[in-house]
Amino acid sequence: MFKLLLLVLTCAALAACQNNTNSSTFTNPILDIGGADPWVIRHDGWYYMMYTNNENISLLRSKILTNWNTAESRLLFAPSPGLNYSTDLWAPELHSINGSWYVIFTADPRNDSPPPEVEMWCEYNCPAVHHRMYTLEGQGSSPWTANFTFKSQLDTYDQFAIDGTYFQHSTGLYHIYSCWYRQYDGWPANLCITKLENPFTVASSFSERQIISTPTLPWEKTPYGRASNDRLSSNEGPQQLTNPKTGQTFVIFSAARSDNRNYCLAQLELVGSDPMNPADWRKHQNPVFFQNPAEMAYGVGHASFTTSPDGTEDWIVYHGMKDPLNGWAARTIRAQQFTWNEDGTPRFPKPGYGPYSIPSGQN
Ligand SMILES: *[C@@H]1O[C@H](CO)[C@@H](O)[C@H](O)[C@H]1NC(C)=O
Ligand SMILES: *[C@@H]1O[C@H](CO)[C@@H](O)[C@H](O)[C@H]1NC(C)=O
Ligand SMILES: *[C@@H]1O[C@H](CO)[C@@H](O)[C@H](O)[C@H]1NC(C)=O
Ligand SMILES: *[C@@H]1O[C@H](CO)[C@@H](O)[C@H](O)[C@H]1NC(C)=O
Ligand SMILES: *[C@@H]1O[C@H](CO)[C@@H](O)[C@H](O)[C@H]1NC(C)=O
Ligand SMILES: *[C@@H]1O[C@H](CO)[C@@H](O)[C@H](O)[C@H]1NC(C)=O
Repeated sequence: MFKLLLLVLTCAALAACQNNTNSSTFTNPILDIGGADPWVIRHDGWYYMMYTNNENISLLRSKILTNWNTAESRLLFAPSPGLNYSTDLWAPELHSINGSWYVIFTADPRNDSPPPEVEMWCEYNCPAVHHRMYTLEGQGSSPWTANFTFKSQLDTYDQFAIDGTYFQHSTGLYHIYSCWYRQYDGWPANLCITKLENPFTVASSFSERQIISTPTLPWEKTPYGRASNDRLSSNEGPQQLTNPKTGQTFVIFSAARSDNRNYCLAQLELVGSDPMNPADWRKHQNPVFFQNPAEMAYGVGHASFTTSPDGTEDWIVYHGMKDPLNGWAARTIRAQQFTWNEDGTPRFPKPGYGPYSIPSGQN
């Protein structure tokens, strides 16, 4: 009753409460309120979603992938004030590994406003200098009933780290995250990989850390092709994606800058056998998912991947902007189906608003 009233008030306030999902089609976004860095997992007949809310780690669940407006929400974790991970909780992801649930997320202290005596070391201004990666652990078969507790900081050698994800491979478990070369760089933001001993402990030493991608291509820089310095050039939001038919392994990541229209998705393929060997990764020379001005879909990135309820279709869940002039606040969460090319690489659609067919098996 209380919930219903809240919903009505929210819808009235937004002046937009139409259901975006029919029995056959849906439209984007899939959540009326704004959101960024969505992460979705399908488990036991439910879809679970997390996204950046800055303050805490909340888990949403829904029977349908295409409408989260009335989804139930459960608080998994809220940090106490005054810790290194009390503010700017970003890009949480929920993974089932080895029979337990893990949440991996980014956070910082004091809304990361570094004191002048830290900031002075940075090449450019570097408000993200204290961002680090952390984990929660929960036991139980369902993430909805598991109790999550703070588990660890993932060692990134006291250097900038955001958007970390788990990468699972026959040779073990890895941490792939957005990193700087040195402690006070500011930019560029690269993709680093380290080996994990378990989901909450890093095994690699600093000298073993490897950089598997840097924003060197014109579309990975902001503004496009920037030549004079690397400011704002970013590789971030890495996500593992495996072709279910061929077994080819990809890391789809976001490039350029998340607050403008040029943010896009890029692709690395693991073409060798060792994820820790940068030469074993092959980068696609063009973005694989990018702005579609004809439909006013801009700044599309930070994706995660799931399947239709019957498991026959692959779906991408990502954020994008209709208004590319309003920066981070303009981001909303969207979903679309994608398929595969002849060579086994993912074939992403043009981003847009639909109506699109609902996922196969969705009632
Ligand atoms: C929207 O409509 C679909 C299809 O009729 C229905 O399954 C779903 O429950 C509705 N969602 C909301 C939030 O009303
Ligand atoms: C619902 O279906 C009708 C056609 O039956 C279509 O015109 C409309 O755009 C659909 N709405 C959504 C939100 O998909
Ligand atoms: C978690 O943070 C969000 C975003 O600030 C807030 O709306 C929500 O109330 C918080 N949840 C709880 C249970 O505190
Ligand atoms: C908090 O972060 C600072 C800067 O990275 C670090 O020196 C300090 O050891 C951290 N504190 C704890 C308790 O981990
Ligand atoms: C989580 O904690 C609550 C309250 O302490 C308890 O009732 C519940 O059984 C716990 N759940 C699991 C899966 O251990
Ligand atoms: C999985 O769990 C087993 C038993 O608890 C443990 O020995 C093993 O190291 C774990 N593997 C990983 C990758 O965490």
